[in-house]
Amino acid sequence: MSAAIIIKAPAKINLGLTVLKRRPDGYHDLSSVMQQVSLADTIRLEPGPGSGFLFFCTDPALRGKKNLVYQAAALLSARAPAELPGVKLSLYKQIPAAAGLGGGSSDAAAALKGLNRFWKLGLGEKELMKLGALLGSDIPYCLQGGTMLAGGRGEKLTALPALPFYWVVLAVPAGVAFSTKDVYGALDPVQFSRPSLAPLVKAIREHDTAGLHEWFSGGQTNTLEGAVLPLSPSLQQLKNKFLHLGLSPALSGSGPAYFALTGDLRIARAAVAALREAGARAYLCWTGPA
Ligand code: C5P
Repeated sequence: MSAAIIIKAPAKINLGLTVLKRRPDGYHDLSSVMQQVSLADTIRLEPGPGSGFLFFCTDPALRGKKNLVYQAAALLSARAPAELPGVKLSLYKQIPAAAGLGGGSSDAAAALKGLNRFWKLGLGEKELMKLGALLGSDIPYCLQGGTMLAGGRGEKLTALPALPFYWVVLAVPAGVAFSTKDVYGALDPVQFSRPSLAPLVKAIREHDTAGLHEWFSGGQTNTLEGAVLPLSPSLQQLKNKFLHLGLSPALSGSGPAYFALTGDLRIARAAVAALREAGARAYLCWTGPA
């Protein structure tokens, strides 16, 4: 019988995201620099009754067949040639859902990795990436982690040098959650900003912290910000709060999470406390794996 397997599923932030064009299949071609952070969910796999899988999540709103962990398990078991030993998947949520932090995608990536081991399926990295892409555009990135330049609909990845260590102040306005589909749908089909990611990529490649600082203080890091800011006044308020704290906020993915990087732990701690006081769900984490 297989022993229990515990896997961390870290959140991601988008250091830059530019939407290039709408595609005939309904997706958008984009270019994005993705970065793993230490805030993470945890998945535990343990032997379950009979065959197949059971799925449990600490957040009742995220239980059921729509969860990407459930879908990852269903996808793998549908492809298996023989009956698989029973497994219980328990998902302990920490990452805010529907916030642009890739929590669901990272959970699915962790489930694919964990089930591959638990069921001894012997799938290689490439096969897992292909399966991941069937479930969601960010899942191939979540299988890889680190600092990556993503193209296509998010699944074409080029490794970048690791970002220098930063504290990451993350905040989500209370009671606000967006579906990625709705945010892309709200994007004006013709007129949207296409910030060039070249200065960001150059700064990362050259380990140029002044260049990184310039990128974030420029304030134009994410095409999707133009689509999400009008959706809720609490987003602009959250952004202003970051600015008043002397930080340069950037929207992560399709939001509503904003983040800012700082090398100074005291500033990061004070910012998280102030953001919480202002009613946001705020987190102190750091760049790199959990
Ligand atoms: O791939 P994923 O399931 O995460 O995407 C959710 C939705 O977000 C898609 O159905 C699509 O509407 C939108 N999307 C997009 N272009 C991308 C990624 C996502 O339009 N590159």
